[in-house]
Amino acid sequence: MPAVEIRPNVYWIGVNDRTTDLFEGLWPITQEGVSYNTYLINDEKKAVVDLVKGLKTDEFFDHIAEIVPVPEIDYVIINHMEPDHTGVLRTFRKIAPKATILGSAKTKNLLASFYGITENVRAVEDGEMLSLGQKTLQFFSTPLIHWPETMMTYDTSEHILFSCDAFGGYGALRGAIFDDECTDLNFYQKEALRYYVNIVANFSKAVLRAIEKLTNVPVEIIAPSHGLIWRKNPQLIVDLYKKWAEYAGGPAEPEITLIYGSMYGNTETMMNAVARGISRVGIPLEIFDVARTHVSYILPALWSRAGVMVGAPTYEGKMFPLMAQVLEMAALKRIANKKVAYFGSYGWSGGALKNLSAIVEPVKWELVDSFEFVGKPTDEELRKGEEFGARFAELIKAGS
Ligand code: FEO
Repeated sequence: MPAVEIRPNVYWIGVNDRTTDLFEGLWPITQEGVSYNTYLINDEKKAVVDLVKGLKTDEFFDHIAEIVPVPEIDYVIINHMEPDHTGVLRTFRKIAPKATILGSAKTKNLLASFYGITENVRAVEDGEMLSLGQKTLQFFSTPLIHWPETMMTYDTSEHILFSCDAFGGYGALRGAIFDDECTDLNFYQKEALRYYVNIVANFSKAVLRAIEKLTNVPVEIIAPSHGLIWRKNPQLIVDLYKKWAEYAGGPAEPEITLIYGSMYGNTETMMNAVARGISRVGIPLEIFDVARTHVSYILPALWSRAGVMVGAPTYEGKMFPLMAQVLEMAALKRIANKKVAYFGSYGWSGGALKNLSAIVEPVKWELVDSFEFVGKPTDEELRKGEEFGARFAELIKAGS
């Protein structure tokens, strides 16, 4: 895609990435892709806000050159040091050596350790203004979204907030870069939630602090470094991020995520009975087979729903390993304060239930019910399993 002017003399100059399979080496984006949004402000002084990953460098530098010769860039503003936004920095420095790199105080150390760059770097203060001629930028310190050095840059004349990872999401751009051009907002909202839970959720308090801090800043355009630019309804993505951040400390939706694994189909047979019981109560239910679904896609459901139904067999005296991995990742991401119920099959001795309790204890999941059976469930056990599911659903529905 060519550079796109988003307001007079402010350009999107990002690139789409449809070839990286795992974002951060962890999170699948093979189908969804991701964009690295970066911006050029062409004033008397010329500034680039954030860069791109170390790929498609020709495309990125061509974007800049469409508007201004790259060596004439005066400032490179680094809102965030993670290499998906700084990968081309050393190349940039070689092409535009006079450009001053601006970032927070903590950015200086990271620049040295990641890229060996120490010259012509300046730390900006929280609230500091930078005149580019006609336009003035302002910097806001917003640490821990999601690294310690993160900040945001604000165009005071156009009221554009360059928020970097905050308010971003997975999903390559499909030609449309603005929310009002997009014909599939549901996709970008869903991928923003997955991105939020995969990348940012552990820092939800910092997200709420930043939203609070910027409450009185008039923002007409949210220009994040991943995903859509929000110019028609910037408040929508802010409200979504706020809602998602609040799940960390408060109640989530009265809905259930059912995660299960099954070796020979016995636990799966019971899962269908349990699901029938939950559905009978009429609350939203989402089901994931942990052996066939990457945890990246399961975490958003766990994050945003109050109830977790875990179905998995005992394996060598412990939890079915692929289920243990999902639960451990949920604990690592501090998905906390859930109500959980467990069911599963065992052959000669249990162990999965005890293992489950140990994994989720640090994040305060409350085990409210459990139901184990030996080998293949009998008809009577399936009937009990349906009642077990309905009981749990009633509890979640009641919010107690
Ligand atoms: Fe998009 Fe934290 O990097």
